Amino acid sequence: MEPLLKVEGLRVYYYSLRGIVKAVDNISFHVNKGETLGLAGESGCGKSTLGFAILRLVPSPGRIVSGKILFEGVDLVTMPEDKLRKEYRWKRISMVFQGAMNALNPVRTIGDQIAEAIMVHEPHVTKEEALKRAEELLAMVGIDPKRVKSYPHELSGGMKQRVVIAMALALNPDLVIADEPTTALDVVVQAQIMNLLKRLKKEKGMSMILISHDLALIAEIADRVAVMYAGKIAEQGPSDIIYQNPQHPYTQLLLRSIPKLKGAKELVWIPGQPPDLRTPPPGCRFHPRCPYAMDVCRRDEPPMIEIEPDHYVACWLYAKR
Ligand SMILES: Nc1ncnc2c1ncn2[C@@H]1O[C@H](COP(=O)(O)OP(=O)(O)OP(=O)(O)O)[C@@H](O)[C@H]1O
Ligand code: SF4
Ligand SMILES: [Mg+2]
Repeated sequence: MEPLLKVEGLRVYYYSLRGIVKAVDNISFHVNKGETLGLAGESGCGKSTLGFAILRLVPSPGRIVSGKILFEGVDLVTMPEDKLRKEYRWKRISMVFQGAMNALNPVRTIGDQIAEAIMVHEPHVTKEEALKRAEELLAMVGIDPKRVKSYPHELSGGMKQRVVIAMALALNPDLVIADEPTTALDVVVQAQIMNLLKRLKKEKGMSMILISHDLALIAEIADRVAVMYAGKIAEQGPSDIIYQNPQHPYTQLLLRSIPKLKGAKELVWIPGQPPDLRTPPPGCRFHPRCPYAMDVCRRDEPPMIEIEPDHYVACWLYAKR
């Protein structure tokens, strides 16, 4: 089966005055139809940049340097901007931006804001029709439709997050990228939003890329997980395998650094800091922090090895040299 999204060798760099930030550096992965891919990794490893790139919305001074983003086999990287905007962005692929719930316009009702998102992309739709759809969308994300007339400050954090999710779903996309959708919320509301995403995905049969720094959280609802480290994918595979039996030293440490309720073991800190992406370490980017680092790790970049069906690890411990 052809995956819905197939990213091949993607590189996205920021050409800042202080140097070239290699935020996404030769990344490949895929998302199957109806599947949720969790994208995990520490702050600054390039998760949001990867999300922006899929919609071709990388902010300046960033740009896609090379690679392919194949959506149903069609390359979005080389597509004319006009076609991308009219046919793909928001209609087929949408994004819940990190922190978007705090960026809602404070002086306009949420109904107006959802309606506008619809009308921008479907100019033939009248305001009345768009507001009606806004009500349906609110109901779908578990908010009383009468709330179309509410202003953002009248809503709780969880409700605002539901509103931005409703906006991302307004045009019935096939793929939704949700960037840290629960980060600013308390644990109970976090669980509610995760359940909402799970339900919507099932009901609508859509695919999702769920971005979070919290690997344990996304492993619970994602079908497959990709773990990013310093602009690269360290390990990817089915969620249960990655969670129960991680093979990359970074994934292992990342999981041991997250508190667990059941079977709690001693928490470990990952020593050191993630690298500066303007001058990443040679070889394996994790080598300065890795307890198993060998000479080859300091010299050569590890290839991505399929160690069992659909389970990939970029580490010299598993590669033939
Ligand atoms: N506009 C920019 N100019 C220069 N560098 C940038 C810019 N935006 C992001 N970066 C850098 O690119 C790298 C990846 O950033 P990105 O925001 O994609 O990470 P992230 O994984 O989403 O982090 P977080 O978990 O904090 O949201 C970081 O090193 C960041 O400093
Ligand atoms: S390639 Fe080497 S440094 Fe990198 S994770 Fe594997 S063992 Fe550690
Ligand atoms: Mg981010």
